[in-house]
Amino acid sequence: MSEDAAWKDEEVEVDDLHPLLRSRWSPMAFDQRHRATKRQVDALLEAARWAPSAGNSQPWAFIVARRGEDSHGRVVKHLAGSSLRWAPTASLLVLNLCHRNVEGTDMDYSEFSHYDLGQAVAHMTIQATAMGLHARQFRAFRRAAVQAEFAVPDHWEVSTITAFGIPASGGAAPETAPASARLGAVRRALDDLQWPKAGDVTR
Ligand SMILES: Cc1cc2nc3c(=O)[nH]c(=O)nc-3n(C[C@H](O)[C@H](O)[C@H](O)COP(=O)(O)O)c2cc1C
Repeated sequence: MSEDAAWKDEEVEVDDLHPLLRSRWSPMAFDQRHRATKRQVDALLEAARWAPSAGNSQPWAFIVARRGEDSHGRVVKHLAGSSLRWAPTASLLVLNLCHRNVEGTDMDYSEFSHYDLGQAVAHMTIQATAMGLHARQFRAFRRAAVQAEFAVPDHWEVSTITAFGIPASGGAAPETAPASARLGAVRRALDDLQWPKAGDVTR
């Protein structure tokens, strides 16, 4: 049996995941001593820039707010709920904007604009992991107020915010924990995400 075939016959384990995927997790406590450099910020944006999108429509834009800069305070004052407790100490808050409509109409700019923004943000989180940073995406902010604060036009939507930084001690997932046991990271079983499910009758 070839090495490839042997690999395919074994049960997949978390160690089979690429280390960048395996080690990604979303902290809820960030070290407020850490500062993100401009080069790190640019690398995150560069990662988003190279994400795939339907018809290469690239329906995304980002507002960058580094802790200590004026823009950071303008984001923090519109955080809501739990994010107000943990997001302000992150080194960087990035607003993830989706090009939803054709300007002045109710027509979709692209059927896939949310899908594509999600991929761009996923690229950023993996790039962050490669640079030794962690990321937590969140929706806990006052969207209308954020849109008004940064004069985001109606045909664009501030979909989510990503907090980037270094986890504060106490916010860390145990080094040795498998992905399925990490903080807040219980996952559905492999069988459960395949359709039809094992045992279902197929027609
Ligand atoms: C679109 C989106 C919205 C999210 N909103 C919040 C939020 O409002 N507050 C929060 O604490 N976490 C939020 N999260 C983080 C998820 O809860 C987290 O990714 C999930 O529990 C899995 O944990 P892991 O990223 O550590 O694997 C959000 C994540 C995504 C992708």
